[in-house]
Amino acid sequence: MLISLTDALAHAEKDNVGLAAVNTPFFEALAATIKVGEQTGQPIILQHAQVHEPYSPIEEIGPAIVELAKRSSAPFVVHIDHGEDIDYIAKGLEIGFNSCMIDGSLREYEENVRITREVVAMAHERGIAVEGELGVMTGNENGDPSQGVADATLYTQPEQARDFVERTGVDCLAASFGTVHGLYRQKPHLNLPLISELREAAGVPLVMHGGSGLSEDEYQASIARGVRKINYYTYAARAAYEAATPLVNDDKIFLFTNLAKAARDAVETDVRHFVDTISARVDAF
Ligand code: 13P
Repeated sequence: MLISLTDALAHAEKDNVGLAAVNTPFFEALAATIKVGEQTGQPIILQHAQVHEPYSPIEEIGPAIVELAKRSSAPFVVHIDHGEDIDYIAKGLEIGFNSCMIDGSLREYEENVRITREVVAMAHERGIAVEGELGVMTGNENGDPSQGVADATLYTQPEQARDFVERTGVDCLAASFGTVHGLYRQKPHLNLPLISELREAAGVPLVMHGGSGLSEDEYQASIARGVRKINYYTYAARAAYEAATPLVNDDKIFLFTNLAKAARDAVETDVRHFVDTISARVDAF
């Protein structure tokens, strides 16, 4: 069943837990993540990022995400991740996504405010919540190995976060405080006091991007300080790759279906561990 991002965030606030927001640009990841939702009963955000268009256009994978989420007995939000322009977001909403992100973080500040306000006006009119982004997290979810080190000069500034939320009306805020997208090339050092300051200044739930690859302590410490939505992709996609590729050298296997099944099982195990970790209530850290 579909639930709104607003309701999912309210649940996470009340129970002091994190919401798994999993990118599912390939069908095995989608089916596996739905299964984890059904196993755990936890609300999960299924998302599709604009950066994945070359692999999986939203016109193709989008209807599958929306339909399987609707049909399931478990609660799902279906979210457009890292929308870079208003037309892409409008297309996703037309397909049936019920939540969206506008990522203006690489634009000049005033331009980020302007485009985010425009998306908020369009989405709120349809009762749809919006995630904005302020501060820059390096890397992307396309497996570029040259990335993976956070740059503290690009972290989100609390006073600017306050101004941004007030002027745009976003419902949650993606912020930069030590995570990066993609594989971590160095052990991440999350700035935990900054998370608390950002939550206080922004006044809305925080979103962690680059959420795969952290330790259980790092997840729980971030949740205790106000992170509610945790975006997750690279390490699940890598688990799928690592499960499927050894089968290539097995003489008895010659159908892609076997690789796809191995990938699906690996994503299920990986995402299940993630969901179990972040949905355990954290009272103190
Ligand atoms: P990772 O691919 O680093 O897990 O990040 C996912 C993400 O932030 C999607 O927006």
